[in-house]
Amino acid sequence: AGRLPLSGRHVLVTSGPTHEPIDPVRYIANRSSGKQGHAIAAAAQTLGARVTLVTGPVDLPDPEGVTVQHVETAREMLAAVEAALPADVAVFAAAVADWRAATEAEHKIKKGKGASPPALALVENPDILSTVARRSRQRPQLVIGFAAETDKVVENAETKRKSKAVDWILANDVSEGSGVFGGDRNRVHLVTAQGVEDWPEMSKTDLAAALLGRAARYLAQAKGS
Ligand code: PMT
Repeated sequence: AGRLPLSGRHVLVTSGPTHEPIDPVRYIANRSSGKQGHAIAAAAQTLGARVTLVTGPVDLPDPEGVTVQHVETAREMLAAVEAALPADVAVFAAAVADWRAATEAEHKIKKGKGASPPALALVENPDILSTVARRSRQRPQLVIGFAAETDKVVENAETKRKSKAVDWILANDVSEGSGVFGGDRNRVHLVTAQGVEDWPEMSKTDLAAALLGRAARYLAQAKGS
């Protein structure tokens, strides 16, 4: 068999949505299925990497041969990601909730007769991608993010790449009708410091293989091996 392109490497992947509790029975969530992130973890494993997948609540089986950490909230995801470092490559495919409820009610919030609906105060969640990308210690050599956008897709992705100190961003058009959230196919633009590449639409599995193959070549060149 010989050495595989990612033999000896550790690849860290986030996937799925996060659930941010409001009370014991309610939460804030989004439409991420985890299909893209899980496909990336599986592709890295196929290429020989040791893989840690940190995933929010999804209906998918754990990919074979991968260490999987199951979390619910953004704060749990951040803690699991930091505990998994160091890594050579980190890919952030999770759709992390930007905000969580400022307080989690201890008891189910009741509907009062004639009372006005409760107000939901939000606070910002930690940004996992930018926290990892800005680390001075144990920053992965290659940090890859996604940018889910509904307008000015590439422009907004380039802004995100710089503001979050990310090496590569996959710009994803997730407008209504694109079917990216939850679907089996994806179309991205790869945004790096070198410029923008428009990738054709393909299955999430093929996209994962293309991305990890590319990451393997990048690491090989960087190390001159
Ligand atoms: O799960 P699927 O159904 O297969 O769908 C795939 C997908 C659309 C969820 C995926 O391809 C995707 O685009 N994931 C990123 C979704 C997202 O939250 O994008 P964003 O533009 O809001 O965030 C930008 C980047 O920062 C992302 O890499 C995200 O993981 C990261 N982030 C965002 C907020 C936060 N608090 N922490 C983060 O790490």
